[in-house]
Formats: sequence, structure tokens, C-alpha cells
Amino acid sequence: MFAIEDTLKPIEEARGLPSQLYINESMTETERQRVFFDNWSALTNGYRVAEPGSVLPIDFLGVPLLVVRNQQGEINVFQNVCRHRGMKLVDKPGKLKGPITCPYHAWAYDLNGKLKATPHVGGPDIHHHDEIDPSRMGLIEVRSHCWRDVVFININGNAEAFETVNAELMERWKEFEQPIYAGGEDSRFSLELKSNWKLAIDNFCESYHLPFVHPELNTYSKIEDHYHIMGESGFAGQGTMVYNPSLGGDRVFPDFAGLSSHWDKAAEYIAVFPNLLLGVHRDHAFSIIIEPRGHDRLYEHVELYYASAEAADKDFAELRASNAALWKVVFKEDIGVVEGMFEGRFAPDYDGGKFSPVMEPPTWRFHHWIAQHMLK
Ligand code: FES
Ligand SMILES: [Fe+2]
Repeated sequence: MFAIEDTLKPIEEARGLPSQLYINESMTETERQRVFFDNWSALTNGYRVAEPGSVLPIDFLGVPLLVVRNQQGEINVFQNVCRHRGMKLVDKPGKLKGPITCPYHAWAYDLNGKLKATPHVGGPDIHHHDEIDPSRMGLIEVRSHCWRDVVFININGNAEAFETVNAELMERWKEFEQPIYAGGEDSRFSLELKSNWKLAIDNFCESYHLPFVHPELNTYSKIEDHYHIMGESGFAGQGTMVYNPSLGGDRVFPDFAGLSSHWDKAAEYIAVFPNLLLGVHRDHAFSIIIEPRGHDRLYEHVELYYASAEAADKDFAELRASNAALWKVVFKEDIGVVEGMFEGRFAPDYDGGKFSPVMEPPTWRFHHWIAQHMLK
């Protein structure tokens, strides 16, 4: 057997991550802590808590979380647990008119997590007790940051500031630092895969498979039209030089404002480690949150975004649906290989394989990043 240290070698000599990191359930606890909880992981999309008072409970790798939009329009994430007897606070998404009220003894928290009411806690009709100090009994906040409408969380609270960790990527895409508009119901879909989550990231990072897995796509965005993207800090992916939106007919989406000519034809697809896939084009963008469910199942939550409120409204519904359908075809084409790589890893003598030093630097970069964090 080879060691995970082999993944840290230069690409020419490196092995991929050991199969145990994919097929052995007992590895998931270490991965949960070192890869997901110590870093900025993608949790959900901001538009799913659209208005002040919107609440969204999410189970993230076994941790009950609650995403809340407050009266100021800011998004906060809390552990979804009442500070009294530990009741799970909210069990379905919705829009609250009042405070977040526990279903058990009706302790109530405002949208910033402050404990506001403890009915009858000191006896009938006595709503306070000296031993219960509301200022110390607010909801437990999870460090969060919203960027490109993705809500990121750092559960262990120990990562560097989001903007520090992602400075290079934010600089690279600064022209896209402008409002984006979720297409909504017609522009979102989720795919379930029987695989390990890391293999979905692997596959997204490289364009090597285009001619074999996406023959149709490869007729207009060919393997030779792609370039690698190698972030120094926590991201990698690929770009194309021939993006040319055409969904049949003359109609096109409005472009993002003020883009330089580079983006007339370029589009980029970047994996933000550990679990987010992003795409930008002059006229639309997407996020795919990879949600692991244990070591052998994952969801890809796809959301498409547009450049104006108008492009996200009724008038463009048909065009948006065509765009979503096109992407769905591409992402579905990938399922077979992402699942097949998982099945292959049960072969006892598979040794992590090799990376093409020419075609797969971004995938190697992802393996390298995972190995670094697992060994920390
Ligand atoms: S457990 Fe929430 S009020 Fe008692
Ligand atoms: Fe693909």
C-alpha cells in the first residue's frame, strides 16, 4: 500500500488519495473535522432565505443548523438547538412573523439569536429567574459568510477570514462582483449520486474527459479550447475560450455589467475547496453545492443565476428553462464516471493511480489540498 504522503509529491510522481479515503466509512469523521469543519464549507444559497424572518433548517454532516435572515437583511447561521433543554428549534423552512419560538416550553429568540422570552420559567406567570441570564443564553452562532449568494460556514471557528482565504479567487473574478439574481424554481435542480463526494470535485476540475463523456459539448467547446486554473489557495478548475451563448432562436440573456472583453468568449469553472463548484459566463453563473451524505452518497445542488432582475423574471422563464435543461444534460453525463470511479476504488490493489501532468494539474491540486488537511 502507499501512503497519503504520496499525494503531496509533485504531480509527476504523485499518487491520488488512497482508496480508504473514499470507501472506508470510518475515515469520514476525520474528514468531517479537518476538511469540512476547519474550513469554509458551502452550506446553502442565500436566496433560499429570501426575506427578513426566513428560516431554513439544514442538517450539515450530522450537525443541525439553522439559517436565518434578520431584519437588516443579513444572513446568520446558528446551531439549531434551544439553549433550554436542547430541543431542535425549527424543523421546516418558512417565514416567521415573530421570534424563533421553541416548540417545547416556548422560549423565544429574536432573529439575531438573542433570548427574548422565557415564559413561566420562575413559576406560573413569572417569566424570569435570577439563575437564567438571557444575555448568556442566546443561540449558538456558527461563523458564516455569504459570497456569490452561497452561504459558507466554518463550524470550528478556526479558519482565517473568508476574504483572506479566498482573496486570490475574489481578485480573479472581481468583475463579477455585482448583484446576481437567482433564476428560482426553473433554474435549480438536485442530482443524487452513489459515490464519494470528492470524486464529483475531481471530475469538475478537469476537461480531459470532455471528448469521451460530453461528445456533444465537445463539438463546440473542445478539449483544446480549455485552460487550467490553479489557485494557490484552495481552488482549482478550468476555463474555456469559446463560450458563445446560444439556446436556439435569437434571444439571449442580458450580460453582466461592465465586463472586459476577455469575458466575451471566456467562461470559467472553479471548484472552491472543499465542496463548492462555481461557473461564470458573461450572461449567467451557477453554483453547485456538493452535499456529502456519508462516504458513499452525495447530492449536487445546482442553482443558476442571471445578471438582472428582469432576466430572473417571468419574461425570460422559457429561456432559463432551456439553459437549465442544457446544464442538466451535461451534469447528468458526468454521473456515470463519478459513480464508476467510486466502484473502482473497491479494487484492493488500486494504488491511487496517476495524474496526467499535462491534463490534470487542477485535479491533483484538489487531492493535494485534501491530503494537506487530512495530515494536519
Ligand atoms: S427546550 Fe426549548 S423551551 Fe424548553
Ligand atoms: Fe464533465
